[in-house]
Amino acid sequence: MKKLVIFLVIVALVSCKTKVGDKESCKSDLLKKEAFEKEIDGKKTSLYILENANGIKVYITNYGARVVSLLTPDKEGECADIVLGFDNIDSYLKDKMYLGCIVGRYANRINDGKFTIDGQEYNLFLNDGPNTLHGGQKGFDKRVWDARQEGNTLTLSYLSPDGEEGYPGNLQIKKIYTLTDENELKMEYEAETDKTTIVNLSHHSYFNLKGEGDTTILDHYLMADADYFTPVDSTLIPTGEIRPVVNTPFDFTKGKQISQDIGMENEQLKFGLGYDHNWVLNKDSANALTFAVKLWEETTGRVMEIYTTEPAFQFYSGNFMDGSVTGKSGKPYKYRAALAIEPQHFPDSPNHPEFPSTVLRPGEKYRQLSILKFGISE
Ligand code: GLA
Repeated sequence: MKKLVIFLVIVALVSCKTKVGDKESCKSDLLKKEAFEKEIDGKKTSLYILENANGIKVYITNYGARVVSLLTPDKEGECADIVLGFDNIDSYLKDKMYLGCIVGRYANRINDGKFTIDGQEYNLFLNDGPNTLHGGQKGFDKRVWDARQEGNTLTLSYLSPDGEEGYPGNLQIKKIYTLTDENELKMEYEAETDKTTIVNLSHHSYFNLKGEGDTTILDHYLMADADYFTPVDSTLIPTGEIRPVVNTPFDFTKGKQISQDIGMENEQLKFGLGYDHNWVLNKDSANALTFAVKLWEETTGRVMEIYTTEPAFQFYSGNFMDGSVTGKSGKPYKYRAALAIEPQHFPDSPNHPEFPSTVLRPGEKYRQLSILKFGISE
């Protein structure tokens, strides 16, 4: 009888711990605020925490507006950190992977680092072979943002001065993170300029729905509301063609495991070393907030949906990852241990007048809303 009581108590304790949405499920974590407190370029960095009623917790630093940790429960209520990152600011200072950051002033690539606005040519730093990637030498990912937290909303602001990294115009930018009790991490962006410029902002978290570490994302499933993608040359600059995904490894319209076609003999996959391409979202009207991507993983039951007002997204399957970087829990980030899905305008749009425009003029307001919605599969 005594044994039975002990057994029942253990069962009760275990089932209590595994309740989905248990507020306690994401309590324990590795991060210490002090490890993020530093002065960089005369500004203070810190760590901010958003936490909702269902056990989801997001840690953000104002260095590069980066999501450092994103803790969500799985189907058993077990919590895991589903993004890559570091447990201290010094490691972020050396980061070359763009872990969890905002990317800008121009996310993705600009051919030859050159663009022309109203007849004037501008030249950027070439940090990706012959091209400029994610803003240049010191993009928005390496800037310290002013932070203001009100409950589960964190507003990060940055003034990018005229001529910074070669871009024209003083650009005042805001990125607002809000964690809702509907299990959404909302990312709102706003920007205004005093001279005509180009703007393409995105978010660069690396996800692994089994939890950050050394496992691969090849077993994840992905579905995308995108009938077309933009093929690239060997330096990952779009050729200008907008190609149907049908009958190609780029067709995720019905949803499939990432491993299914990633190894296929295909010139585009060869150029990207896997998936590292821009998908064009199906939209009835430009700037509408629509469903973009669903990512899910069967063993944990975790599901993430992405909604965005942007016309496209880059899906990068972690092809440059090689285990040389060790993350916050001490595990090396190996080949394809995570993936990035970056809502954005098309790469190299300033050199492709046929693509949706990324030009921002004085008096106009750049706006973007992208939402990550977390859930559990039925
Ligand atoms: C983006 C690019 C990739 C790679 C990563 C960062 O996703 O498209 O080619 O540069 O950023 O490593």
